Amino acid sequence: MVVIDRAQKRLDALIANSPIASVISDPRQKDNPIIACNAAFIELTGYREDEIIGRNCKFLAGPATEPWLTETIRSGVKRHSPVLVEILNYKRDGTPFRNAVLVAPMFDEEGELEFFLGSQVELEPDAPATHANRRMAAAMAVKALSKRQRQVLAEMALGHLNKQIAHRLGLSEQTVKMHRALLMDRLGATTTADAIRIAVEAGL
Ligand SMILES: Cc1cc2nc3c(=O)[nH]c(=O)nc-3n(C[C@H](O)[C@H](O)[C@H](O)COP(=O)(O)O)c2cc1C
Repeated sequence: MVVIDRAQKRLDALIANSPIASVISDPRQKDNPIIACNAAFIELTGYREDEIIGRNCKFLAGPATEPWLTETIRSGVKRHSPVLVEILNYKRDGTPFRNAVLVAPMFDEEGELEFFLGSQVELEPDAPATHANRRMAAAMAVKALSKRQRQVLAEMALGHLNKQIAHRLGLSEQTVKMHRALLMDRLGATTTADAIRIAVEAGL
């Protein structure tokens, strides 16, 4: 069916080819279940796809997960604004890991909330600088963009589609597409999810 194909294509374009573990959830369904995940997420967490799809992402939390960090994610979800926290999570076999998780809203062409994007990076316990380094690299990459590219990236990180970005910045959709392609290339981002992650890491 055309509608499903289009939706599936959009989900694939968002996360399928990302080297970063990623999920998409559907806030229009009860308890905001995951409707898509990529291979990197399966590899990171050890869960099979059929154990992931249809569940809320809270199954990664466990006994020592910090409740105040869960609360930060919860309030970002509630406010429809991107959040990035380093939270203690657990893999399928019970191994704990420090998860630098990004949760960001994505809106449809009408400006209605459509999905949440989740992207998970495991921080190595013996390399506490990893996350600081990621942030610094992200900040430098974003700084190297043109002003217009930064504006488009900031809009992408707010979860807007090209059509809305064009409207919000007073540009044509074609121009937005051009900036988007160029900035993704300059950031070395394979997918929109990766570009959003870099933007939030950079504090854009
Ligand atoms: C797309 C998405 C990805 C999420 N990823 C994680 C995650 O990797 N780790 C985590 O502890 N919570 C994650 N969460 C948060 C939980 O799913 C859940 O919202 C949170 O634990 C609060 O749940 P509650 O309000 O039902 O208690 C994610 C949420 C969303 C919407």
